[in-house]
Amino acid sequence: MLDAFGQPQSIVVLGGTSDIAGAVVDRLCARRCRTVVLAGRDAERLAESAARAEEAGAERVAQVVVDATDVPGAAASVERCFAAAGDVGAGGDGNVDVVLVAVGVLSGREDELDAAHAARVAAVTYAWPVAAITRAAALLAEQGYGRIVVLSSVAGVRVRRANFVYGSAKAGLDAFARGLGDALQGTGVSVQVVRPGFVRTKMTEGMPAAPFATTADAVADVVVAGLGTPASVLWAPPVLRAVFAVLSRLPAAIWRRLPG
Ligand SMILES: NC(=O)c1ccc[n+]([C@@H]2O[C@H](COP(=O)([O-])OP(=O)(O)OC[C@H]3O[C@@H](n4cnc5c(N)ncnc54)[C@H](OP(=O)(O)O)[C@@H]3O)[C@@H](O)[C@H]2O)c1
Repeated sequence: MLDAFGQPQSIVVLGGTSDIAGAVVDRLCARRCRTVVLAGRDAERLAESAARAEEAGAERVAQVVVDATDVPGAAASVERCFAAAGDVGAGGDGNVDVVLVAVGVLSGREDELDAAHAARVAAVTYAWPVAAITRAAALLAEQGYGRIVVLSSVAGVRVRRANFVYGSAKAGLDAFARGLGDALQGTGVSVQVVRPGFVRTKMTEGMPAAPFATTADAVADVVVAGLGTPASVLWAPPVLRAVFAVLSRLPAAIWRRLPG
């Protein structure tokens, strides 16, 4: 159960090997989170993330192998994560306080020309998360409480030439999550959308940093602070809210020519 400050005792992370998710789990486990379920596609990387969570203070850590290209399997994967929380959570209530959705793959120019690449980006970044969140919302509603935190992106606020396949997936996911949040009013379950800008993680390795570039730790600080609030949308860093209020209104001819 989330305490008065929004700090959870248990979390399911979809994208459990994500750098941003790792920084969030570090912070939550340093507080009072003791049960962590990490879902990811690679058992070895999952084991490393699990060891990191234990080092941060988690007492019960479960790893669930899931592949986000398997969209029809998303609901069953989420059920396995909740079951794992129940199994390892014997010392707590076995419930899930927070579901953090950190799955995603960035697209590049090659995706524009390759239908299979584009479909993979759309599946992993949009379709699988939509199906997974839908099932998670139903399971949390059965509990009567819980928070779903969805890592969206400023890339979806106004889609850019450089990564429009990814941006379009984030735009869809962001809209879906906000709509779901409205639909869940009164159930005890809430949805929080987080819109980071450019974050230095393995996803952006080797890429030139964009203005207002930030770190996984800084995004995690925003996420953890946000858990204590009912805000439906968080920006990381927060200044991006004002920046995008302006950028969203730029004429298309200028927007198209922006570098990146
Ligand atoms: N970095 C940024 O600039 C930035 C900005 C805005 C939003 N975000 C969003 O923040 C979230 C976390 O990103 P990050 O920066 O922490 O990058 P990251 O470390 O690459 O995290 C992405 C996560 O998605 C997982 N994933 C990718 N394909 C998968 C698949 N087929 N099946 C299962 N899992 C899969 C990755 O697993 P593996 O470890 O196995 O690859 C990883 O856990 C993503 O949704 C991303 O779109 C990132």
